[in-house]
Amino acid sequence: MAGSRGLRNQRLIRPLSHSPSSWHVFFFTFACSVSSLLLLFWDYHGQLHSFLSPSLKMWKDKMLRNDAAPVSVELDMNSNCKIYQDVHRLLHYPEESKIAIYFNKERNCAQPQLIGRLSGRALTTITWETSYYNIPDDDEEEEEAEETEVSNLVPATETHHDNNINETKDVLLGHYRVPQSGTYFLEIIAIMCEDLQYDAEFTGTCLVDPNQHRLTQDGVFINAMMTPPPPSTQHDTSNIIGYWWHHDGGVELNETLIPLYTRYQPQGCRSDSTLYHCSLASDLTRFDNYQFKFSTAQYDDDQLSTILEGKIDKICIEGASHARMLRGHMAAVLANLNSRGVHVAELDFANETRFASDFDEAKINFIIAKNCSKVIVTTGQWDAGWPNDRPTLFPEYEQILNKTIPLMLKMFTAANIQVYHVSTHYNPIGDIIGSCPPKDWRSPRVIDMYNTIEKRVCDEYGMPWIDTNDIMGIMWDRAADWCHYDDVSSDMEAKYILGRTFTP
Ligand SMILES: *[C@@H]1O[C@H](CO)[C@@H](O)[C@H](O)[C@H]1NC(C)=O
Ligand SMILES: *[C@@H]1O[C@H](CO)[C@@H](O)[C@H](O)[C@H]1NC(C)=O
Ligand SMILES: *[C@@H]1O[C@H](CO)[C@@H](O)[C@H](O)[C@H]1NC(C)=O
Ligand SMILES: *[C@@H]1O[C@H](CO)[C@@H](O)[C@H](O)[C@H]1NC(C)=O
Ligand SMILES: *[C@@H]1O[C@H](CO)[C@@H](O)[C@H](O)[C@H]1NC(C)=O
Repeated sequence: MAGSRGLRNQRLIRPLSHSPSSWHVFFFTFACSVSSLLLLFWDYHGQLHSFLSPSLKMWKDKMLRNDAAPVSVELDMNSNCKIYQDVHRLLHYPEESKIAIYFNKERNCAQPQLIGRLSGRALTTITWETSYYNIPDDDEEEEEAEETEVSNLVPATETHHDNNINETKDVLLGHYRVPQSGTYFLEIIAIMCEDLQYDAEFTGTCLVDPNQHRLTQDGVFINAMMTPPPPSTQHDTSNIIGYWWHHDGGVELNETLIPLYTRYQPQGCRSDSTLYHCSLASDLTRFDNYQFKFSTAQYDDDQLSTILEGKIDKICIEGASHARMLRGHMAAVLANLNSRGVHVAELDFANETRFASDFDEAKINFIIAKNCSKVIVTTGQWDAGWPNDRPTLFPEYEQILNKTIPLMLKMFTAANIQVYHVSTHYNPIGDIIGSCPPKDWRSPRVIDMYNTIEKRVCDEYGMPWIDTNDIMGIMWDRAADWCHYDDVSSDMEAKYILGRTFTP
């Protein structure tokens, strides 16, 4: 038994290699570890040099010398992280494309909400399971260095009456899928200490201080293997829309793997964003190396042009500032595609739709009078944002959509207008989202719940809900003004929406 589990458990060393680069390259190492900051030297020509050994190459050679990939690899944790004391160990299971977090039963944060991002040849996210596992007793008694295989873990819900199960750890599993095998930088951050329930009164719920939210140590890299996508069925929407790829496609070959740390706005940086710690945390160039490629050709320029050819349509994108942003980018995309017959209507500031509840009969009639053939509805930003000094709570949001979605469907359909709802964007951790208590609630967990509700209500009434999170969510921290994606993300979102709304 124990022999079959003779795992080569390896402590991952931290390669943070640097090579002279002509691009604007920054390494971002947040204040989780002051000592690590000493390893970073800012060069005013726009490069941040890092001197850490051993190099990635040495590490790769070491990996290659192994006969087989290790079953599990221990990953270093950041001792300054808010939940560091809560976590016993962090493991990567390369062959299963899984990350396991062994939480202590006794902990401060009962159910930390995590965001994991891999960056290398492409960007990908870690999908966390919602329930924990326990470790079977016989495994626990083994040496510390030996580790439980993922397949031996037992769902925590099944262990209540089983005395053989050692319940000293709660194991959380996260899954990822990379589009190409290779070395990836891994960052896991904890954004909330507890789960956010549907009936939660979360107005006072603070995010984990972003200065202390990173669980992984600086420069943790993993070797990730490509796994085939899950079998897809007809109308399957589980397949990812596409990936943000590193522009030179092979950072690994070149040994300039640039860690993509989560961007945020530390407190006090609104008034002086030029302070060193402000610009380090909020610099935007970290995203420059990635460009989005759709998984299917349907959304590429040639095919979009073909799909739009001969169409005469006027598209109304309804909402507030995020709708205006999308409208601008869609207009640019259409111009670039030389579309003659398809236009996006101007958004009239005085009559924009801010709260979801604003989509009442008068507003819908007002939109109908614009003579659009397609209406794209966006909601959620004002509801979860600062304007009311409180967020629209989840049941209330659902009650509102329960009224407005069927009403829109009925009225727009009667006017021969196709209507679609687009998913709500996350906002990065700007100062008012990251303050405690928050003054704005558009953080990923809240928006995830809004999107769950939107999808549920849209499905219920038959309004298409277009989920653009594969495009926007993985780069959620990119919005330059901490809210709006006035960058290439919105171009990609516009293309995807065009493809979805013009494909039968
Ligand atoms: C669980 O395992 C730990 C470490 O091996 C041990 O100290 C503890 O007594 C075990 N608890 C139970 C209930 O078996
Ligand atoms: C990385 O690749 C570029 C282009 O191929 C090359 O010019 C550069 O020297 C390479 N860097 C290293 C460290 O090999
Ligand atoms: C549109 O805006 C104008 C100017 O503010 C206002 O008078 C009008 O009532 C608005 N219409 C709707 C349907 O909101
Ligand atoms: C909508 O169409 C009607 C009838 O064709 C026309 O009278 C009206 O001016 C149009 N409105 C707009 C905003 O284009
Ligand atoms: C929304 O409508 C559905 C279906 O009618 C209902 O089951 C659900 O309870 C409603 N939700 C709220 C929050 O009112």
